[in-house]
Amino acid sequence: MFLRSLQLQHFRNYGALKLDFPDRLTFLVGENGSGKTNILEAISVLTSGKSFRGVPDQELVQEKQSGFYLSCTYEWQSSHTLEMGVQVEGRLQRRIKKDGKVLPSRAALIGNLVSIVFSPDDLEIIQGGPTARRRFLDALLSHRDSAYLDCLIQYNRAVRQRNTILKEIRNNRSRLNMLDPWDRSLVELGTRITGQRKKFLSEYEPILNESLNQISGGKDSIRVSLFPGESDSELYRKAMQERRMRDVATGSTTFGPHRDRLLFLTQDGSDKDVQFRFSQGQKRSLVLALRVGQFYYLKQYIGRSPILLIDDVIRELDYKRRDYFVDLLHKCGQAFFTTPDLDGLESAVQATSARIINVPDLHSAVTDSKSQ
Ligand SMILES: Nc1ncnc2c1ncn2[C@@H]1O[C@H](COP(=O)(O)OP(=O)(O)O)[C@@H](O)[C@H]1O
Ligand SMILES: [Mg+2]
Repeated sequence: MFLRSLQLQHFRNYGALKLDFPDRLTFLVGENGSGKTNILEAISVLTSGKSFRGVPDQELVQEKQSGFYLSCTYEWQSSHTLEMGVQVEGRLQRRIKKDGKVLPSRAALIGNLVSIVFSPDDLEIIQGGPTARRRFLDALLSHRDSAYLDCLIQYNRAVRQRNTILKEIRNNRSRLNMLDPWDRSLVELGTRITGQRKKFLSEYEPILNESLNQISGGKDSIRVSLFPGESDSELYRKAMQERRMRDVATGSTTFGPHRDRLLFLTQDGSDKDVQFRFSQGQKRSLVLALRVGQFYYLKQYIGRSPILLIDDVIRELDYKRRDYFVDLLHKCGQAFFTTPDLDGLESAVQATSARIINVPDLHSAVTDSKSQ
């Protein structure tokens, strides 16, 4: 899979920009605040419909503008275009097209242009709370299989509707048996989600450990587990039943995949959470392995190499891990990097055909063309 061109209008600090990517590797070089990450962000928005920085669409619109427009052309079997236009003035409006045809939702965008972001914020997957880990898991599974994402969307909607009823019961405006149909639906959708997550983790764990093994020089390996991760319908139903009164009291559904915890555990027999056991360096290796593992997993299961979007990560790595990284670049399809300068990256730049874009120049190019 190959991203050929990208166009931005009124997106972040870009008024109008068009870029072509003839090479496998593209380095986006420039000082802090020049707009390097914004370009990766634009690519990732066309991948998943959302910013990987977790901000609402309003933030993506250039200051003093009322909307943004992004488009790209990419090759996967044949040439395709993706477009996304967002208007934020008044009611938020989004229009997404593939090959000129309107897509029904942001979810429908997923699975077309597939990319993986490597970001310094990825440390959150290990150090942050359960939400960051579930998001990592769900994003990966959704890219593999859009049916999973559909199921997750339905499940989350059902949880919200059940929560509304729980609050009504608490305020004596509804009866307990009103929960029955929602519970049945949650058991059905929830066990499907948990079952798929568990199946995925059993496939992903060896791939992840292989990457971790190489990055850590054979020192580290981990076990991945989902807790409680109930995928048996009968046990799931019982657990919901037992929590019913507590759910009514809190007005929220406390059991199910939206509360499951993804655990990374040491494999030394102690089953300790790596969050509390691993050194900072080991955690960095694990984060890298999680993303590299994601790359190999998707490559194997969806049969194409995702595009790598590498945000300010290479400079953080020590030399050994950097070598490993450069090796990955030889194996990947296409990759984009952001970096303040190219010091220490000469070998990667020379390794294959690479293009260097000086990001501050992009702004002056736009101003120049306007002033002409
Ligand atoms: N909505 C926006 N409108 C205009 N400028 C923005 C907007 N959002 C961010 N910026 C600007 O973009 C720059 C940051 O871009 P970024 O790509 O994160 O920089 P870096 O090159 O460090 O990765 C900042 O100068 C910021 O002011
Ligand atoms: Mg940046």
